[in-house]
Amino acid sequence: MSTVRCLSLHTGEKIAKKQDVIGQIEQAEKKYFARHEAFDFHNELKKRNLELIVIVNEACVSGARPMLVAYMVFAYMKHGSTIMLHKICVQEKFRRQGIAKDVLATQVQRLKKRGIAKIHLWVDDSNVAARQLYAHMGFEEVSRCSDYYAMGRTGVQMALRLV
Ligand SMILES: CC(C)(COP(=O)(O)OP(=O)(O)OC[C@H]1O[C@@H](n2cnc3c(N)ncnc32)[C@H](O)[C@@H]1OP(=O)(O)O)[C@@H](O)C(=O)NCCC(=O)NCCS
Repeated sequence: MSTVRCLSLHTGEKIAKKQDVIGQIEQAEKKYFARHEAFDFHNELKKRNLELIVIVNEACVSGARPMLVAYMVFAYMKHGSTIMLHKICVQEKFRRQGIAKDVLATQVQRLKKRGIAKIHLWVDDSNVAARQLYAHMGFEEVSRCSDYYAMGRTGVQMALRLV
């Protein structure tokens, strides 16, 4: 089984109630990603090399239903010092508040402490928000691949060295 870390948006504390958010993530996948890019969480989470980071609104600390704010998925590679950032998504109403930047920065520090040497990812060349976010975090372009996502949609490979 994958590791699921459910964290509070404001305190960063771990939240015990994680089951409720998986359904919200599946809805977000349908809303924000093309069908062939949507993650099949029920099946994917059976894989041991995945790590799902979920950020929820603090309301759930007081017993209310956790509200999904953002999530990201990492995949550990065979040689353990490299990790792939498979996906990051912030719910529409929480965007442009620095949440992706904060969450990613926190995770980068955690991975660094765990001895991860490099994070790599693929991003759609036309996804300005994501590309700006990654550039802002220090990711650098490594290569490009035409028709990577679909006909006419170029994929950009980016990497961030941690050591
Ligand atoms: C990409 C995404 C995760 C950014 O989340 P966010 O919380 O809004 O990002 P932040 O507020 O932390 O912004 C960080 C930086 O990213 C860039 N950025 C974010 N949104 C942007 C936009 N719409 N246009 C241009 N740049 C943008 C900016 O450089 C920003 O820094 P600044 O505000 O200091 O200028 C969000 O737009 C999203 O979930 N998109 C849909 C899913 C997706 O495409 N994910 C990436 C591929 S898996």
